[in-house]
Amino acid sequence: MENKEILVFKNSEKLEKSVISKWSDTAEYAIMKRGLFTVALSGGSTPVKLYKKLSGTDLNWDMTHIFIVDERFVPFNHSDSNFRMIRETLLSNINIPEQNIYPVPTEKGSSDEAARLYENDIISFFNLSSGEIPEFDLILLGLGDDGHTASLFPGSPSIHVRDRLVVSSLPPDKSMHKRVTFTFPVINNARNIFFQVTGNNKAVVVKDVLENKSSNLPAAYVKPDKGKLIFLLDRQAGALLSDRKH
Ligand code: 6PG
Repeated sequence: MENKEILVFKNSEKLEKSVISKWSDTAEYAIMKRGLFTVALSGGSTPVKLYKKLSGTDLNWDMTHIFIVDERFVPFNHSDSNFRMIRETLLSNINIPEQNIYPVPTEKGSSDEAARLYENDIISFFNLSSGEIPEFDLILLGLGDDGHTASLFPGSPSIHVRDRLVVSSLPPDKSMHKRVTFTFPVINNARNIFFQVTGNNKAVVVKDVLENKSSNLPAAYVKPDKGKLIFLLDRQAGALLSDRKH
């Protein structure tokens, strides 16, 4: 894929600096071209420091619209909520209009209902006609050590869904919360996808996703149709790659 780039950084600080610089350029171009910047953020632990650093920037938050790639089906104030983490590390520390923030409505009904509602929020925001797929300017993804991304887990039917934008999904570990997640059609229609991956516990799945042509790990399904795909890795996560790019 000529639209894929793999960058390996000495440490997570340098990696985060690069994400912020690329985010800024992407946002500036989107706002210049279309008058707004649409970004969807992942949860988990990897992006916490990045979100805190983003809080200290003077990006154009007025024109930025923030969505959530995937969410645990818990209330907004639950300690496992991705939205709660993103609110505490980023949203509460920047001047972004409340109406520019689109959390997954996890306080209503079931995870299936929440998925439908969020899908409708996206359809109306992007003014999509039936069957049309939104084009986010940027989607930030993480990578689980089992090869999942978003909440699209190995062996889950949700990785094969092509006629929905948002679905509910079940993690393999029954003790984990039900999820609501973007589907691959939405992810692969983004103009830019950044994978932020750090830590030696990810090295094996990073090698499989990036160098095993027949990988069936969910993250290997991220193949944007026309957008740019950038893997931003620290040395540990990229340790097993055959040719290391810095
Ligand atoms: C979530 C995330 C998920 C995450 C990976 C990596 O809800 O947990 O959206 O897809 O990106 O699980 O998680 P870590 O960054 O904690 O390793």
